[in-house]
Amino acid sequence: METPVQIVIFGASGDLTARKLVPALAGLARKQEPPGGFVLVGVARRHLSDGEFRQDLRAAQPPEGLDDFDGFAPRIHYVSGDVRSPEDLRRLGARLDALPGGAAAGRLFYCSLKPDLFEPAVSGLAQAGMLEQSTPDSPWRRVVVEKPFGRDLASARALNQLLQGCLREEQVYRIDHYLGKETVQNLFAFRFNNTIFEPVWNRRHVELVQITVAESGGVESGRAAYYDASGAMSDVLQNHMLQILALVAMEPPSSLDPEEVRGQKVSALKGLRFRSSPDQSVRARYQAGEAEGKRVPGYLEEGVPADSTTETFVAIRAEIENWRWSGVPFLLRHGKRLKHRFTEVKVQFRVPPIQLADHVAGEDFLALPDGTVCTLRPNVLTLSIQPREALSLSFSVKSPGGGMVMVPAHLDFDYRDRFGESTTPAYERLLLDAILGDPTLFLRADEVEAAWRFTDAVRASWAGPEAPPLLEYAPGGWGPPEADALFHGCEGGWSRG
Ligand code: BG6
Repeated sequence: METPVQIVIFGASGDLTARKLVPALAGLARKQEPPGGFVLVGVARRHLSDGEFRQDLRAAQPPEGLDDFDGFAPRIHYVSGDVRSPEDLRRLGARLDALPGGAAAGRLFYCSLKPDLFEPAVSGLAQAGMLEQSTPDSPWRRVVVEKPFGRDLASARALNQLLQGCLREEQVYRIDHYLGKETVQNLFAFRFNNTIFEPVWNRRHVELVQITVAESGGVESGRAAYYDASGAMSDVLQNHMLQILALVAMEPPSSLDPEEVRGQKVSALKGLRFRSSPDQSVRARYQAGEAEGKRVPGYLEEGVPADSTTETFVAIRAEIENWRWSGVPFLLRHGKRLKHRFTEVKVQFRVPPIQLADHVAGEDFLALPDGTVCTLRPNVLTLSIQPREALSLSFSVKSPGGGMVMVPAHLDFDYRDRFGESTTPAYERLLLDAILGDPTLFLRADEVEAAWRFTDAVRASWAGPEAPPLLEYAPGGWGPPEADALFHGCEGGWSRG
């Protein structure tokens, strides 16, 4: 018989545990229980009994999640303790030994902690001997580390060194929940399983790639201190967006081996370049105003310091210096309090070299930055990641009748139409992979460092004498119009989702 797995969450009283991790584990328990099953042990400083912890978690579940939760609740346990206390870790160890699976269980330690507690948690566990996995037959010990993984390259390196001092790399699971999204995994699957796109997926045929993560919400309550220290760039662009970019830009791996896949992503990220000049990035923060029919506060009223200079919107023009992508702009944009929430990749192909059409019909053709109209509409492949989970390829067709009048058309595919229901929640997939020991969808040390190297270069340009100004934008729109200028020399503009 297989031994149950023990999942320990440090920081169990936090929002992530109640909103994401517990529903994901409850979903897994019902749908795809790994062999032997699993138990959950929450660890936080508050004094609670198992029953009280379960009640608190239950109160935070949405009505549609209650059946799954109630089925899973008997397997939820709680240990009150401080990760910095050797005595508390010893008590935790004793409790784990007494739970199903005991010392023979595989153990997944999930650090859902404030960044300053990562280090004491991991070194405390190592000193207590709780991470030892001395022989290939020993029960496995793995650590999942939540973002933020460092705040720049230097701190990410220091954290990697700490982890590597206590664990082998294959025991470390650096999580980015975007990689658990079905449509993000499809970026890889779609590219490398459909040969018609591969020959045109390069600088000869692609004019530009734009990636958007737009959010309609502002900074959530209780997150002001974290957010003000991160900003749009470190909160979303450095991790989620660069992961999307890596999947769009990477070379094909020779197999699905995790190191092959991750190695190719790292190479793409290492080629990423930011030209340090004021016209290559735009940063801004939202003002107070009206959004979605109600009055919303400005960023400076969200409980951040009055002299904050943190951005809630960022748009960047980057390039990837390699054989495939040299010269192709990768335009990245993320912001909070925008008109609506959507995440999307658009791969825009080059227009034909000469125009064999008479004139345009309708207004649906793209406006060029100089005010004229693009009569040759570029083919665009749109990969919609959320909330729509879809693919669309746009092209032009001849309008029936005299002359050669072209009109836009597209081919669409939607996950819901094809597969019926919404896709598996990201944390469900990622927790299952961590339990099963598949690191493909987790970040390697060098991957995180490559992402920070790029982000640090942008931040350095914001600190220099030629820094672009911190602009302001009204909520409920598309951010500052200055971001449009990043398209200079290219056709088209930012997607509206
Ligand atoms: C988180 C950020 O990592 O991702 C949040 O900290 C952001 O600020 C969130 O809102 C977006 O995730 P999703 O899955 O809702 O797009």
